[in-house]
Amino acid sequence: MDQSVKLEMRGITKAFVGVKALNQVNFETEKGEIHALMGENGAGKSTLMKILAGAIHRDEGTIFIDGVERHIQNPLDAIRLGISVIYQEFMLAPHLTVAENIFIDRISGKKAVINWKELKAKAKEQLVQLGFNDIDPGAKVASLSVAYQQVTEICKCLTRYTDILVLDEPTSVLTFSEIEKLFEILQRLKGKGVSVIYISHRLEEVLRIADRVTVLKDGANVDTLPNAGLTKDKLVTLMVGREFSQMFAGRHAKSGDVVLEVNHLKAGNMVKDVSFKVRAGEVVGFSGLVGAGRSETMRAIFGADPLASGEIIYMGEKTRFKDPRCAIQHGFGLLSEDRKKEGLLLFQSIRVNSTIASLQKVSRAGLLNHRKEKDFVSELLASLSTKYGSTEDDARSLSGGNQQKVAFAKWIFADCKCIVLDEPTRGVDVGAKLEIYKIINQLAEKGVAVIMISSEMPEIIGMCDRAYVMRQGLVAGELEKQEMTEEKLIKLAMGV
Ligand SMILES: Nc1ncnc2c1ncn2[C@@H]1O[C@H](COP(=O)(O)OP(=O)(O)OP(=O)(O)O)[C@@H](O)[C@H]1O
Ligand SMILES: [Mg+2]
Repeated sequence: MDQSVKLEMRGITKAFVGVKALNQVNFETEKGEIHALMGENGAGKSTLMKILAGAIHRDEGTIFIDGVERHIQNPLDAIRLGISVIYQEFMLAPHLTVAENIFIDRISGKKAVINWKELKAKAKEQLVQLGFNDIDPGAKVASLSVAYQQVTEICKCLTRYTDILVLDEPTSVLTFSEIEKLFEILQRLKGKGVSVIYISHRLEEVLRIADRVTVLKDGANVDTLPNAGLTKDKLVTLMVGREFSQMFAGRHAKSGDVVLEVNHLKAGNMVKDVSFKVRAGEVVGFSGLVGAGRSETMRAIFGADPLASGEIIYMGEKTRFKDPRCAIQHGFGLLSEDRKKEGLLLFQSIRVNSTIASLQKVSRAGLLNHRKEKDFVSELLASLSTKYGSTEDDARSLSGGNQQKVAFAKWIFADCKCIVLDEPTRGVDVGAKLEIYKIINQLAEKGVAVIMISSEMPEIIGMCDRAYVMRQGLVAGELEKQEMTEEKLIKLAMGV
């Protein structure tokens, strides 16, 4: 066997009840290679990596590491072989601190007395090395933003022996400056001979960082190609089997009255003084770095977090939503960025998750019309090309991107006057992105005031009539559609 081949997975097959997730898949990476794994939502990417990590068992297939067949039965086997996986839906212990999470597999089990001070110092050192001086190793993970939770995960992997590092959509929660840091780290690891397997839906990133790309579709291999000569169009065609002419279609919406006006909002530690306005039929973007206070601003308005001071004028009246339920009753919706924690009830059915914000629509005189509900849900999910078994399956059986589609579906159902979409296309594939953009356009055309928080600049530029850029809890600037460029957005976000 070729000496440079680090990992070879051969003929991997895996079926879940009702779904064949993988069918005779082959996958191989070399030492010191960054290998991207791509494919539509539900293509089987995460499943393949979970098999490598020993998190689930394959039905068929063999795995070779350094040319030797290995039987990976459980996560510990994988860790011993130097395989580290950062999952899409990551698995930190929220009630433990950053330092405890980083060293968790080395503090549990052993009888030795733990030196907490040393542990914290080591964690700090690693965080600083990664360029994240502002993460406190003593902070509880639950108190961190999703991006910082992600950084904690990466840190955890880097402090133990790692030969094969798998990152399942690592950048979907990061913004550009953090992505740069991550890429530096990956290049460094590559230089040291680590094989990096990189799953992402972001074509630009993959083309930038990967040496080779393997594309899966419906649980089977499409192709494996070197980066040289690949283009975005070629990748999209491989993934979806058809071409897209245009990512952002035009919108025919007229902007109307101001639906939401916020003046000098202050909330928590992250929101210091925020003022903005959104009109009916407008799509207004919120750009900025992680930690700029975008989500926190919207959560305070929505009634999910306490609000210190400021004025909210909603539909012409001074308003304070005391809790999310009250906001929803008044037609104010919020699609959360953290679908696992807030967006979805993972142990409830897909049907329940889709209609939960709008039960009055599928019921009459307080009685739920199940037929009607089911039809509604199937139709809506089909329009987003969601891949699922039955509407009665638990939401947790869905692939990451398909979970996001269900979380999104919930708010299309609810008739909102104003809706906040916090990273609406996180983790969804190109095809579904297009569908989501279409639906956002339709919402605006119906006169809904849409607020879109996004860390993807092309999305802000392509979709928004106006954009606010936030920095350190303040609005750093406001740009009209015709003045938006990536450069301007970055400069405002970073304060240069
Ligand atoms: N625990 C499970 N039970 C039932 N079906 C599952 C389970 N895990 C995955 N599946 C199904 O297997 C298929 C492949 O899922 P997988 O998570 O590997 O997709 P993916 O390529 O990672 O997609 P995404 O880009 O959306 O994350 C999907 O149809 C999914 O619904
Ligand atoms: Mg996945």
